[in-house]
Amino acid sequence: MPPRKKAAAPKRSVLIIGSEAVPFAKTGGLADVLGALPAALARLGWMVTVALPRYRGIQDGTLVERLPVTVGGVTADVRFFEAPTADGARALLVDCPELYDRETLYGAGGVDYPDNPRRFAVLVRAALEFAARGGSGPTIVHAHDWQAGLAPVYLKTLYAAHPVIGGTPSVFTIHNLAYQGTCEADWLPRLDLPWNLFTIEQLEYWGRISFLKGGINNAEIITTVSRKYAGEIQTPEVGAGFDGILRRRSADLVGIPNGIDVEQWDPSRDPFLPAAFSAEDLGGKAASKREVLAQYGLPVTDATMRRPLVGMISRMIDQKGFDLIAAIADDLPRLEATFVVLGTGEARYQQLWTALAAAHPDRVGARIGFDEPLAHLIEGGADIFLMPSRFEPCGLNQMYSLRYGTVPVVRGVGGLDDTVRDYSPRSTRSTGFVFHEYTGAALLEALRRALALYGDQRRWRTLQLAGMRQDYSWDRSAREYVKMYERAIKMVAGG
Ligand code: ADP
Ligand code: GLC
Repeated sequence: MPPRKKAAAPKRSVLIIGSEAVPFAKTGGLADVLGALPAALARLGWMVTVALPRYRGIQDGTLVERLPVTVGGVTADVRFFEAPTADGARALLVDCPELYDRETLYGAGGVDYPDNPRRFAVLVRAALEFAARGGSGPTIVHAHDWQAGLAPVYLKTLYAAHPVIGGTPSVFTIHNLAYQGTCEADWLPRLDLPWNLFTIEQLEYWGRISFLKGGINNAEIITTVSRKYAGEIQTPEVGAGFDGILRRRSADLVGIPNGIDVEQWDPSRDPFLPAAFSAEDLGGKAASKREVLAQYGLPVTDATMRRPLVGMISRMIDQKGFDLIAAIADDLPRLEATFVVLGTGEARYQQLWTALAAAHPDRVGARIGFDEPLAHLIEGGADIFLMPSRFEPCGLNQMYSLRYGTVPVVRGVGGLDDTVRDYSPRSTRSTGFVFHEYTGAALLEALRRALALYGDQRRWRTLQLAGMRQDYSWDRSAREYVKMYERAIKMVAGG
């Protein structure tokens, strides 16, 4: 007799909540992660929904539901659009024009929107209400960064006794501790939160409240995006005021490195590159280099094609080490290299680069703006990629660079230290150049080491190929998240 088939266990489901996700909305790496992780979880057999706002310009999705969502006595008329994403995952686009139909995602003219606490509280509440309206809720809620920090809080308060989602465990992922989501304490009632949360063990932070702190203190498990950063954030140097809060929860805090979307970032079939290339055949890389030089209006000659091209793609903020660049701005154009930068951010750093480009039009190209195709092209065409971060929770561009044979020069912090191995002539496992001291001199020294090795094309090739052969696909990290989901489920079940 054939063995009786066991009834299939009900599929486990995760509700992911965050403020941006590729391909819908992106300002930084969080969007890349929320674009790729859902598919990787779906491949492991999970039902995955990722909820984010339907910002201005997002046209995707089919209208599936309309619910009034009341937060702090004010009702928002919320429409829910579903859009399938890769491998069977789906996006839930939360539509509420009065909150999300704005010029940018988080603020205008460098100032956050004053109603951000409400905007992101409504996102979380809408996602939870949507999930709760059927007979069965998600197995777990996975909240990302401060914008979703109230999800674990609401699950432990407002929804604690809810017949459908009461008791749902949560995992909270910190992508960047520098963004703490603070506001005046008098927001509490406007967010439907009781005043007894205004304590140092809960949301209170220097007389205000912090959504980030709420997430950390109420989730079953806290993760962050590299192993090294998981340790660093428990120290005063990198903890940004949260090191004590995190040390208290260190038993439940783990680092899970980000992967990269190896479909989107693949030099052998990247539609933004003029010619394909791979570890087996690097020939096509030169076409990208030529195209980068041309797009930046830099001379395209035998000399500039031979000269190493150094690229940088970055939000132009302190975190990314732009003050180090400022410190060595006079030295850069004297190096035997060409520089191209792409980014937006603080005016002083934008000016730094535009002034450098104006003064050295043959050596430096600056593009201020957000340009996805150009980002791919720079990864393809540059020889060296610069990431001198002050701190870096994970960092994705150094991994894209490795995959594109573009040798990274990085500061040895957070995910950069976990993913780039400093060059040593004795090792075949080196993948880039790492410096440690946060000074312009240390950065310059690392850059000089890289430029010197570029002169030895045989060794350089070995370094490129070692990087290109690294495996940073999402599958391993997704399995680690599933382990954490299971651990959180056990914690709530008292197991
Ligand atoms: P962070 O999230 O701190 O900005 P990451 O390295 O994790 O840093 O991710 C940044 C992501 O944003 C990468 O995918 C990078 O290519 C992209 N990016 C940053 N600035 C720009 C820009 N100006 N144009 C296009 N892409 C950009
Ligand atoms: C944050 C961090 C970056 C990380 C990204 C995705 O924006 O600054 O280091 O890679 O989140 O986790």
